[in-house]
Amino acid sequence: MRKLEVSLPEQSYSILIGSGLLAKLPDLLEMHGVQKQDRLFLITDDQVAIHYLEPVRRSLSESGFSINFAVVPHGEQSKSVATYESLIGKLIEAGCNRKSVILALGGGVIGDLAGFVAATYMRGIRFFQLPTTLLAHDSSVGGKVAINHALGKNIMGAFYQPKGVIYDVDTLQTLSMRELQSGFAEVIKHGLIWDRSFVDWLFENKDELLQRNPLYLTEAIERACAVKVAVVSQDETEQGIRAILNYGHTIGHAIEGTTSYTTYTHGEAISIGMVGSAWMSEQLHSSNQGLTEMTGELLTHFGLPTKLHTPLPEDELMNYLRRDKKHTSTGFTFVLSPTCGQVRITEHIPEGLIRQALRRIGAC
Ligand SMILES: NC(=O)c1ccc[n+]([C@@H]2O[C@H](COP(=O)([O-])OP(=O)(O)OC[C@H]3O[C@@H](n4cnc5c(N)ncnc54)[C@H](O)[C@@H]3O)[C@@H](O)[C@H]2O)c1
Ligand SMILES: [Zn+2]
Repeated sequence: MRKLEVSLPEQSYSILIGSGLLAKLPDLLEMHGVQKQDRLFLITDDQVAIHYLEPVRRSLSESGFSINFAVVPHGEQSKSVATYESLIGKLIEAGCNRKSVILALGGGVIGDLAGFVAATYMRGIRFFQLPTTLLAHDSSVGGKVAINHALGKNIMGAFYQPKGVIYDVDTLQTLSMRELQSGFAEVIKHGLIWDRSFVDWLFENKDELLQRNPLYLTEAIERACAVKVAVVSQDETEQGIRAILNYGHTIGHAIEGTTSYTTYTHGEAISIGMVGSAWMSEQLHSSNQGLTEMTGELLTHFGLPTKLHTPLPEDELMNYLRRDKKHTSTGFTFVLSPTCGQVRITEHIPEGLIRQALRRIGAC
């Protein structure tokens, strides 16, 4: 088992990563100060429940914990006000109080939803992230929790840190190949923005990783989380440097928006976005020649797209880019890479360069 510490001004917690951790959950919760008399409320989705709900529920009850649970439909639509309200009702009915503890068992959807329930129920109760997707190495760390509104994704949310992250890598064995590959996009992002040696390691170990060797998955998650922890520890509420975690996301979000979140997974969209950002980086930083090719090669190894399958209108993508949080009256801001393994928030990017990058990734 590997352990990373997240040290924040108000609160610190640990991220435990390894095989067989769900089986040890009762002991791990007690180690984190949860007592048998504290009611547990587990939130998961219907696909995760098939594999993991019963073993987790049974081992916690057999260890003397009182546990209630709720299963929501899988998918982004569960990050809704309606699901949130229904979960709050279930917590009240189960008699949850300020000492109760929420367990978020699932991917980023469950982590964001259950985390938001925890952040707001009785003004905030303890919760643990129990990630079951590779992408959730990103979403379970850093304390951003949220639900969606019909007019905006993640529009109701909070910065609310878990009491711990307990990451059983064995759960990744049942994840679909597409979801696994999608998670690698964020793993690769963490290397590209912060840690060149991690990028090299990903190249070297791609076969073991795609074959889901638990030792290699543990190491990849540990190294990727370490980057996220380093960034978040410096800027918990995104006043500055935390924005570098959005590398590839500006274009990625535009692709997701233009296709109404139906065509590409988040990882696939940011994979294409990172190719666009790499290309712009090369144009602005002669020191970083070859970045686009190298980025494309690594993403391709992990089965990720480097171009749009079907061209999307450049103007529509530009409209989304204008709505990006980082876009101000003085122009476009992108996270770009002056050298591999480092990025910088770069302002005043000319529109012409962005349009060229969009054409490069297949816009028309
Ligand atoms: N809070 C943050 O900082 C942050 C960061 C990145 C993404 N996110 C959010 O994360 C969400 C995406 O997360 P995701 O990609 O994990 O998606 P997800 O939670 O929807 O999981 C993907 C699919 O895999 C299934 N699944 C999950 N674990 C499984 C397992 N072990 N075996 C079999 N099937 C399994 C789920 O049922 C679902 O159908 C988005 O809502 C995004 O906004 C949040
Ligand atoms: Zn992302």
